[in-house]
Amino acid sequence: MMFMMMKLIALLVLAIAIPSYAQQANVITTGFGSPVSYKDASLTVGRRGPMLLEDTEFIDEMSHFDRERIPERVVHAKGGGAFGYFEVTNDISRYSAAQVFARVGNRTRIAIRFSTVAGERGSADTARDPRGFAIKFYTQEGNWDLVGNNLPVFFIRDSILFPSFIHSQKRHPSTFLHDADMQWDFFTSRPESVHMILFLFSDRGTPDGFRFMDGFGVNTFKLINATGHHVYCKFHYLSNQGLRNLTAARAQQLQAQDPDYAIRDLYNAISSGNYPSWSLNIQVMTEAQAQNSSFNPFDDTKVWPESVYPLIPVGRLVLNENPTNYFQDIEQIALSPSRMVPGIKPSPDRMLQGRLFSYPDTQRHRLGPNFLQIPVNCPLYVRNYQRDGPMSYDNQGNNTVYHPNSVDSLNVSQRAAALSPAYSVSGDVSKYDNGGEDNFAQATNHYQNVLDEAGRVNLVENLGSALSSASVRYQRRALDMFGNVSADLRARLQRRLGLQ
Ligand code: HEM
Repeated sequence: MMFMMMKLIALLVLAIAIPSYAQQANVITTGFGSPVSYKDASLTVGRRGPMLLEDTEFIDEMSHFDRERIPERVVHAKGGGAFGYFEVTNDISRYSAAQVFARVGNRTRIAIRFSTVAGERGSADTARDPRGFAIKFYTQEGNWDLVGNNLPVFFIRDSILFPSFIHSQKRHPSTFLHDADMQWDFFTSRPESVHMILFLFSDRGTPDGFRFMDGFGVNTFKLINATGHHVYCKFHYLSNQGLRNLTAARAQQLQAQDPDYAIRDLYNAISSGNYPSWSLNIQVMTEAQAQNSSFNPFDDTKVWPESVYPLIPVGRLVLNENPTNYFQDIEQIALSPSRMVPGIKPSPDRMLQGRLFSYPDTQRHRLGPNFLQIPVNCPLYVRNYQRDGPMSYDNQGNNTVYHPNSVDSLNVSQRAAALSPAYSVSGDVSKYDNGGEDNFAQATNHYQNVLDEAGRVNLVENLGSALSSASVRYQRRALDMFGNVSADLRARLQRRLGLQ
């Protein structure tokens, strides 16, 4: 028995240490590791005869190919990304006890995926569209995903509207064309979108690649410090390359000439050692400030004025490593605002709350139920009682599979418990439509005070150009909506559209 065991161990050691014959000979193999006999022809009966089912090399090759495509992301299908690090430059432990912020100088590995939103996986990088800017931090206490965009606000403030909003931006069910009527019908029916529309149709709607744009967490989060005290928080990550946008004409030209412009630019910059970086900042709001705020701090169509809630520096995000395999590292990456770590929690932001469900749900469908075991999604450490399911690559060996048990000595984390203090909520349960809440004040300020005259001219031209594909009915509704932002904007747009 002892001898058998030793023989088995010796065989195992040999199997691990010694490269296979195929590896030594540098030969092509099938998916199951068997050396391939011939790669350029299938097995046939005679020169002109039919193929044989016994050609297992052919079947191995073709059946894998037949399954190569996974579903593309339902939104943000086209994108690129890279790896790098986050380095803490300022101590924010008075706001959050998250390990990722723990010590100035601390570095955490990160992955970032940039994307456009509405186009398909093969669509052009320079379309007028928000850009996704999503970061995965591989922290010592699990993966934290900050899934943001390049614009600080969003189109809607209740997540139940998201599927309809996206349908209006994607292809028409019968023509299979992008459809200005659907888009402007939705926008004008939900005028809370107007603040975001002013950003999107300004020059910032066509950033020059991914390196010259800022990022924003958009939704409001909650930070908890070591004493259990919380503040609400917005994340801003500001480009150290500066901001650079494409003119509408250049963006359109690139759509035809170089549809992968932004992916190429990012890849080339990193491979030539020109590493892009961003400064991570937070804005914080106390509970008392939130309760007395003149605007709803959990409404993602609003910015928090920096004069009242100044940016607080946190650290530096640096990208210095291109993916070695796009599908493995970027297509399969799964980012979700629900992936938080001790010291970071959700706020009652209704959009964030809906997103907490949506992302892991779609990822179970897009990548399979064990998608967290794919290396790019895998945290540094996992120990729990989840087992089995398709493609369970790390099934946690012979560890106990149930809790509570009298066998293992695992405990819950006292630290995580302390950083999850109880909080109270109250109210009458109902469906509260928030569509009419203060839709225009910040949009008016944006038009009058944030944009300069050149920005206003470009905004009107970009809006006019988009609206000219919509029916007059929707053009008029849009004029009414923009009239609530500014009479000047309405008048200019009316002239641009040639409407009486
Ligand atoms: C209720 C509103 C929203 C819902 C239901 C929603 C849903 C989704 C879904 C299902 C995906 C695909 C995820 C995947 O396949 O891995 C996605 C991707 C994404 N969403 Fe949202 N989203 C919402 C709002 C937002 C907002 C407000 C932002 C900006 C802060 C945002 C930023 C992103 C980004 C950056 C990605 C791409 C992530 C990646 O690179 O893989 N989304 N969203």
